Amino acid sequence: MSIAELLEGKRVVICAGAGGVGKTTTAAAIALGMAARGSKVAVVTIDPARRLASALGLGELDNQPRLIDPARLAPLELEGELWAMMLDPKRTFDELIDAVAPSAQRAQEIKGNRIYRQLSTAVAGSQEFTAIAKLHELTSTGEYDLVVLDTPPSRNALDFLDAPARLESFLEGGALKAFLRPTGMGMRVLALSTAPVLAALRRVTGIDLVADLSTFFTLLGTMTESFDRRARQVDRLLHSPTSGFLVISSPQPRPTEEAIWFRGTLVQGGLPFTGAVVNRVHPAVEPGPPAPLPPALGAKVAQAAHEYAALVARDATSIERLQRALEGAPLLLVPELSGDVHDLSGLLQIREQLFR
Ligand SMILES: Nc1ncnc2c1ncn2[C@@H]1O[C@H](COP(=O)(O)OP(=O)(O)O)[C@@H](O)[C@H]1O
Ligand SMILES: [Mg+2]
Repeated sequence: MSIAELLEGKRVVICAGAGGVGKTTTAAAIALGMAARGSKVAVVTIDPARRLASALGLGELDNQPRLIDPARLAPLELEGELWAMMLDPKRTFDELIDAVAPSAQRAQEIKGNRIYRQLSTAVAGSQEFTAIAKLHELTSTGEYDLVVLDTPPSRNALDFLDAPARLESFLEGGALKAFLRPTGMGMRVLALSTAPVLAALRRVTGIDLVADLSTFFTLLGTMTESFDRRARQVDRLLHSPTSGFLVISSPQPRPTEEAIWFRGTLVQGGLPFTGAVVNRVHPAVEPGPPAPLPPALGAKVAQAAHEYAALVARDATSIERLQRALEGAPLLLVPELSGDVHDLSGLLQIREQLFR
């Protein structure tokens, strides 16, 4: 089956899965293939391998998709357009503030705030959160036929789904409101600002942490409605039948288990699971006629063949396990290529496998 069939009618594709299985590679190859078939495609990559990024001509320029020069993609011919970008979480966060702040001045105040600067770069899950924010931004204009989203190199595929919820609930609800209540944490911290320890700290370091904190939360407090609205829009977008989650895996036991679990979570959450891709499958090779070799070399060849056969068998076991768990949902296989996929010819080979 060609992945093009799976993506029929989709406006958004999210490539999720365990770390290192080939999410970025697959996202790029899908974008290439769909652009070749005539769509105007934007692909948002996250931490692509440096050589892949330069093969595509991706720079950390403006945190917006750029049109890839079709000449770069020869011999592949594009009927459509390929736009690609590398996600910059910090800048995406800033853009989000610009979009939701009631005024430019308010946005400046927030972005200059010390707490905000820490939060927007260091907070766990900021990559996940900003990936979703970027997806929302790119889909809201209707400019692209298809947006392909790569997902961050989380240790766990589920971090990706959790992060926006964690951040949303932090921004919209509980934590923030509790903080802003007169009897809440925030006010208690503020009351502490007169405490000798903090006063001394401020004198010595010149940092008025409490002032920063209170400014931050007051400013954010004026924006919760905007955040709420966006959170609901994102939720609708992710649940829409025109969106699709592809779960990427490799034929090893752990990523396979993670893929099964992830797919279960998507289905449970009513999110549109589209199919699974098992990447880096070792193709079975037919043994050729025995070659007359010196005994020592012959033994080595036999040993290598034996080890390879074990890999092929392991792959088959994982694939069968995934296939059963998918209950008839589509499963695509992509072979292991010799050498990393860091240039265009590698990417084109992956594309060919996906779009057969
Ligand atoms: N089918 C494949 N054959 C060989 N190498 C691959 C294949 N798919 C991916 N790779 C390599 O595996 C590494 C991880 O791929 P990547 O797409 O960055 O994974 P992820 O985004 O899931 O972390 C990269 O070095 C990539 O070139
Ligand atoms: Mg990646």
